Amino acid sequence: MTWLRVIILWLSFITLTSALAELPSYVAAVYEHVVVLNPNPGVAISRFAALEHMLKNLEVFEEQAALAAQQGAQILVFPEDAIQGFNFTRASIAPYLEQVPDPTVVTWNPCSEPARFSDTEVLQHLSCMAQKNNLYLVANMAGLQVCDSTTDDRCPPDGRYQFNTDVVFSSDGTLVARYRKQNLYFEAAFDTPPQMELVVFSTPFAGRFGILTCFDILFREPTIALVEDLGVRQLVYPTAWMNQLPLLAAVQFQRSFSYAAAVTILAANVRAASLGMTGSGIFTPWHEVHQHDVVEETGWLLVSHVPVLDPVMTARVSRSTGLAWLPFSGHRKREARMDEAIEAQGRPKGGWHLEAQSKPRSTESQYCLPASDECNVGPGYEEPIVFHSIMMYDNFTLVPLQGMEGNLTVCDDSLCCHLWFRRSTAPGTELYALGAFQGLHVVHGTYYLEVCALVKCTGSNFASCGGETEQAQTRIDFRLEGNFSTHYVFPGILGSGMALDIPDESGRDSDGLLYMSRSGMTTGLVTATLYSRVYSKDHT
Ligand SMILES: *[C@@H]1O[C@H](CO)[C@@H](O)[C@H](O)[C@H]1NC(C)=O
Ligand SMILES: *[C@@H]1O[C@H](CO)[C@@H](O)[C@H](O)[C@H]1NC(C)=O
Ligand SMILES: *[C@@H]1O[C@H](CO)[C@@H](O)[C@H](O)[C@H]1NC(C)=O
Ligand SMILES: *[C@@H]1O[C@H](CO)[C@@H](O)[C@H](O)[C@H]1NC(C)=O
Repeated sequence: MTWLRVIILWLSFITLTSALAELPSYVAAVYEHVVVLNPNPGVAISRFAALEHMLKNLEVFEEQAALAAQQGAQILVFPEDAIQGFNFTRASIAPYLEQVPDPTVVTWNPCSEPARFSDTEVLQHLSCMAQKNNLYLVANMAGLQVCDSTTDDRCPPDGRYQFNTDVVFSSDGTLVARYRKQNLYFEAAFDTPPQMELVVFSTPFAGRFGILTCFDILFREPTIALVEDLGVRQLVYPTAWMNQLPLLAAVQFQRSFSYAAAVTILAANVRAASLGMTGSGIFTPWHEVHQHDVVEETGWLLVSHVPVLDPVMTARVSRSTGLAWLPFSGHRKREARMDEAIEAQGRPKGGWHLEAQSKPRSTESQYCLPASDECNVGPGYEEPIVFHSIMMYDNFTLVPLQGMEGNLTVCDDSLCCHLWFRRSTAPGTELYALGAFQGLHVVHGTYYLEVCALVKCTGSNFASCGGETEQAQTRIDFRLEGNFSTHYVFPGILGSGMALDIPDESGRDSDGLLYMSRSGMTTGLVTATLYSRVYSKDHT
């Protein structure tokens, strides 16, 4: 019996390792940039002065592109707003804008044909950077499109659209993709594109990549449409994201998104400690290299080998490795073993450990709800303490974790969350609570949420549950589940000191509940969350 198991494990390990060796891979890079800012972004300046300003950022890009190329990078992503900065008005950003021709209509290499379109210095610099370093280059800039308000009723009165624009250059410098950010985040300088665009570009080394920008990641269009409707499994993601614990620090959500959607995401964030912006990485569903550093005010280049996930290029190998798992379907342990195989190949190590210990497993969801009669039976019954606390502007319903081990349930409207836990330190040392929230989030954006969250409270009183903390000493083995009304559930686990983690297992159990489980973490637990988005209720 034991022998058989050993042999089977060994065989599957060999299969996995050799399958991974067969799997095509490429080298990706993201650069977290400390943007040289215009100190008075609200004041209009000349084109010459705007170019002078942008060149300071582009010079840093040039150095980093060369460094990335030296490390073999085939694709490099720069952050959102990293060339011009932020906080412009519609008028003051004018000298920064360039017309970006539609690459599906015009084939243009700005480095080789600089005179073809006027006032395109930024495009020329980026194109030459891609060409010189022989890599695909993704950058974000301020784009302009002239329109005619007599024929286009969405055309702004000043006769031009101003778009927050991503541009992609192939390794010879040709402009191959242009994406205009759909979900603006209070950006007075920019217009929302009149039509939603799903933008995908193809590379010879890794197949297709989709593009999204910053806040887009929380919305169906374009993000989920790229993944589910177009079957894109690799995303480039320029962002300027302000961290917000306990649920939405930049790398925390990048990690969750990549895991849940079963995609690779190349995320480049701005570094601006004073604005709470930091956190970039290269994430595959089972592995990541990332950085989250709020102290140093220097840029940061991340380079990593990444297996190709484009289904067209991996069709043959993915059958044997389980790489073809579906977005939002959850992952079984087998797939988690990919990480060991990657480490065996000498690739950079991920931040988690996979040896699972005894796994709790409720065969049926027999947990009782507060106020239900079943809860009142049995020894040791205590009246559940239910309280409310604000977490990231939302009014969560919570229950505290009591004892060293237990089962608890909390509901908010029609969402019920259930937790089994076993903790490593006595309950008096650190307060944890299980919270549920269902409803429309309305502060800093409007979007409908259903969230089950196990959080470490920042103090010993209930009001501190939901506050921001990065540290925890208590290790917790757990299984968390909820009856979500959607399958867009993003499982996230954050350990002490911003240690990123993924579940041992996640998915839908036989009762239709979405769950995740994790045991044997080596760091204290800061947050374990099933964060879900109900896109269909955003406009209710
Ligand atoms: C931009 O504006 C926000 C508030 O609207 C402010 O908190 C922030 O400091 C400003 N950033 C810069 C770089 O001016
Ligand atoms: C949170 O919701 C509870 C229950 O609906 C309510 O009693 C409480 O006042 C709310 N708290 C805040 C800060 O709105
Ligand atoms: C928690 O619930 C599971 C499933 O019902 C049960 O097997 C386990 O004994 C419970 N644990 C505690 C500590 O109540
Ligand atoms: C979740 O479970 C609770 C309690 O059984 C129930 O009232 C609620 O309708 C369920 N919600 C969904 C979306 O099924």
